[in-house]
Amino acid sequence: MRFASVACALGSIATAVAAASTQGLYDLVERRLPGRSHDFAFELNETVHVNRTTPQNDHYTVSTASNGSIAISASSVSALATGLRRYFVDIAHVDLYWFIGSRLDQLPPTLPRPNSTITGASIVPWRYFFNTVTFSYTTPFWSWSDWELELDWLALHGVNLPLAWVGFEKILLDAFQEVNLTTSQILPFFSGPAFQAWNRFGNTQGSWGGELPLQWIDQQFELQQKILSRMLELGMTPILPAFTGFVPRALVDVYPNATVVNGSQWEDFPPEFTNTTFLEPSDPLFSELQNIVVTKQLDYYGNITQFYTLDQYNENDPYSGDLGYLRNVTRGTWQSLKAANPGAVWVMQGWLFTSNADFWTNERIEAYLSGVEVDEDMLVLDLFSESQPQWQRTDSYYGKPWIWNQLHDYGGNQGLYGQIDNVTVNPISALANSSSLVGFGLTPEGQEGNEIMYALLLDQAWSPTPIDTAAYFQSWVRTRYTGNNSIPPQLYTAWELLRTSAYNNTNLTSNAVSKAIFELAPNTTHLTNRTGHHPTTINYDPAVVVDAWKNLYAAAATEPALWTNAAYKHDFVDVTRQVYSNAFASTYADLLDVWTHPNSTARPLAAHAASLLLLLRSLDPLLATLPQFNLAPWLASARTLALATPNGSTSAVVADFYEYNARNQITRWGPHGEINDYASKSWGGLVGDYYLPRWLVFLEYLGGVTPAAYEDGAVRARIEGVEAGFQVAGSGLGVRESSGDVRGVVESAVVPALREVGLL
Ligand SMILES: *[C@@H]1O[C@H](CO)[C@@H](O)[C@H](O)[C@H]1NC(C)=O
Ligand SMILES: *[C@@H]1O[C@H](CO)[C@@H](O)[C@H](O)[C@H]1NC(C)=O
Ligand SMILES: *[C@@H]1O[C@H](CO)[C@@H](O)[C@H](O)[C@H]1NC(C)=O
Ligand SMILES: *[C@@H]1O[C@H](CO)[C@@H](O)[C@H](O)[C@H]1NC(C)=O
Ligand SMILES: *[C@@H]1O[C@H](CO)[C@@H](O)[C@H](O)[C@H]1NC(C)=O
Ligand SMILES: *[C@@H]1O[C@H](CO)[C@@H](O)[C@H](O)[C@H]1NC(C)=O
Ligand SMILES: *[C@@H]1O[C@H](CO)[C@@H](O)[C@H](O)[C@H]1NC(C)=O
Ligand SMILES: *[C@@H]1O[C@H](CO)[C@@H](O)[C@H](O)[C@H]1NC(C)=O
Ligand SMILES: *[C@@H]1O[C@H](CO)[C@@H](O)[C@H](O)[C@H]1NC(C)=O
Ligand SMILES: *[C@@H]1O[C@H](CO)[C@@H](O)[C@H](O)[C@H]1NC(C)=O
Ligand SMILES: *[C@@H]1O[C@H](CO)[C@@H](O)[C@H](O)[C@H]1NC(C)=O
Ligand SMILES: *[C@@H]1O[C@H](CO)[C@@H](O)[C@H](O)[C@H]1NC(C)=O
Repeated sequence: MRFASVACALGSIATAVAAASTQGLYDLVERRLPGRSHDFAFELNETVHVNRTTPQNDHYTVSTASNGSIAISASSVSALATGLRRYFVDIAHVDLYWFIGSRLDQLPPTLPRPNSTITGASIVPWRYFFNTVTFSYTTPFWSWSDWELELDWLALHGVNLPLAWVGFEKILLDAFQEVNLTTSQILPFFSGPAFQAWNRFGNTQGSWGGELPLQWIDQQFELQQKILSRMLELGMTPILPAFTGFVPRALVDVYPNATVVNGSQWEDFPPEFTNTTFLEPSDPLFSELQNIVVTKQLDYYGNITQFYTLDQYNENDPYSGDLGYLRNVTRGTWQSLKAANPGAVWVMQGWLFTSNADFWTNERIEAYLSGVEVDEDMLVLDLFSESQPQWQRTDSYYGKPWIWNQLHDYGGNQGLYGQIDNVTVNPISALANSSSLVGFGLTPEGQEGNEIMYALLLDQAWSPTPIDTAAYFQSWVRTRYTGNNSIPPQLYTAWELLRTSAYNNTNLTSNAVSKAIFELAPNTTHLTNRTGHHPTTINYDPAVVVDAWKNLYAAAATEPALWTNAAYKHDFVDVTRQVYSNAFASTYADLLDVWTHPNSTARPLAAHAASLLLLLRSLDPLLATLPQFNLAPWLASARTLALATPNGSTSAVVADFYEYNARNQITRWGPHGEINDYASKSWGGLVGDYYLPRWLVFLEYLGGVTPAAYEDGAVRARIEGVEAGFQVAGSGLGVRESSGDVRGVVESAVVPALREVGLL
């Protein structure tokens, strides 16, 4: 049996591991379709059952058994889950989605039976998911039920190798205590709940606005135990964290002779919050800490994985570029891992080779990777394969196994976006051209909309030829809008228009999800035509997206029941958001044109300004209708984690600290706006109480000055006043109820506004 030999200290995980059975699948069906699990018969096909020491491709078959059950037989639990989704999507036309949740309950009372045997085979053994920073941009305040949905989604989409970062601070706290640092020397090292990813990377240290409380550390550790247990039940091999070398400043007080280097400078953060202390792997204390970190996790969770995520130079150059030094760093790190767990495989994000390409010349990459002397002991995530792949220039990471990943999104930004050709054609050609490619995966910084793009790559892992996206989009529509409604042809038309416009970016000067300029601090320059990772260029004809919007709207005129379909409501709001984003950019360009070239015959500046404000004022209530586009639930989820374990009068203080983290990340991102607006969001409440006031002060100022008299500092000061005011927890700023009444707001506010700006 797959996990039979595992000795485990933790009851619930031990049970899951020992089972190594199909029970997790029956439980999944019961969670989503209570009482229906007896319709299914899951079976591990022993003839093709893979074991995790030698990953092989997966297989499944779906058929109707002689007793009438829906029979799914497969090579692994993950393949069983993939076969189950194949049944849901292709036979029953239902699925489970981010934001909207499970639509599996839209099944007819009698589950349809397959008429013939359907088979599937993966073309790669590993299907990977998560970026280290997804744990901060998307999941920091997630409850167990949020995780349950996510893990069911991952399982059904065939993911078998997810990152599992939650609760790592508990392990680090234990480890540093064990080498005699005190709690008060350790806690100031950790970053706040919304910023832990960058502390784990060694980019930041410490927390602005308050110190990370022990209650957070304990609570997240408890959550991690549930997450790991569920991952195992659903056939996933979790990737656990390891010791990187980043340590509290106070370590040198306890070990004055420790070999450490300082001097990292991440973004524009002051030394207090960056300049992290890195303990060199050559120091014996490094291996000691590695051993404790790995062993603690073996004790708490069992020997449940051989995969460890470990990044030392993410956006953080090594102390020296000397090839011998680089090789020593990896060799020491690798040896420490193998000493702690002989089966260990070091998983590394390859982002540094993209982001810090100036430092990482090919010979340095080769030297660094060569320190891991056994290729199979490392697994490199080619992090942004659809736009900035590194595997070709590094000759497939000089032989190390690697995974082709679609990153797609930075900071949880929300533009409609896809590179349908690059995520279907390129991974297939990579597989043909690289013998060490072992998986496909997803590495979004933030989990956002555009879910079809994520599903597409995970489905590509089961298709030896590039998926036909026209057919794929059609099938998506058929399944997505299943409900108490017909599916009018305009829905298919709308998605075909999106497929050939917003989802078909081929100009990779702009190479990821786009950003709405109204989310940026108002300015007279640098807003439109930004390229790169947060582009504001519009690489398609915006009229096509307006046309898609019109088709979506017309579909609901044909079939009014769509207004009660959760998937339709979500997509309608999302596409409307994009129409607004594009309209705002063109209106802004017109306004600047009039401001710089005053002309008495043109539409006056004030009229353009009024249009911009009208757009923001009418978009805000639309976004607020649905919780997934509303700020309030994000803030509430943060506060709830503090209040979940009431601790007398301190819980309100803690709740305020968590709320500050939640507000700060999506706005100023740092105590002083160090990476202002990086993780901006088109959310109800944020648009109305943050972006709108910033534009108000800007437009008011602009209306009163000529270009020659414009003073940047004066504008910046006004805008900064708005930004600072929004950070305050408990102010209620941006808090809106979600009414769910999309139709009402569309009719009362959106349609009139779009008419007013000339789009309808
Ligand atoms: C795993 O598979 C390999 C190759 O198929 C085989 O040699 C090995 O014995 C298997 N291990 C277990 C524990 O089944
Ligand atoms: C099990 O796998 C083998 C080899 O692929 C296949 O021939 C057989 O049909 C599978 N059994 C079931 C029940 O799917
Ligand atoms: C199975 O075949 C019957 C008869 O042709 C048909 O009515 C039904 O829709 C088919 N079911 C599926 C799931 O394709
Ligand atoms: C921690 O302190 C204890 C008691 O003073 C000592 O026995 C132990 O060796 C110390 N551990 C380390 C790693 O220095
Ligand atoms: C640190 O190194 C110095 C010089 O080699 C030595 O005298 C001292 O004892 C060492 N201190 C510790 C705590 O190991
Ligand atoms: C970085 O940290 C080290 C060690 O704490 C300190 O000596 C150095 O002055 C710091 N650098 C800056 C720029 O503050
Ligand atoms: C690399 O490590 C070896 C053995 O620990 C040491 O002799 C050598 O000086 C180190 N080289 C560099 C450049 O740090
Ligand atoms: C954990 O399991 C792996 C693979 O089965 C094995 O190589 C390794 O030695 C085990 N580690 C420990 C600490 O028992
Ligand atoms: C992505 O696809 C476009 C054509 O659609 C192609 O020009 C480009 O080279 C591809 N990009 C990468 C990184 O492979
Ligand atoms: C995507 O755009 C490219 C370049 O403009 C074009 O060649 C290709 O046919 C388009 N694909 C689709 C599906 O629209
Ligand atoms: C790609 O986009 C850049 C930036 O917007 C633009 O300058 C360039 O002309 C575009 N290239 C093509 C081929 O459209
Ligand atoms: C506008 O952007 C430029 C370039 O980033 C910057 O120097 C300037 O301070 C900005 N102005 C305002 C008001 O933010």
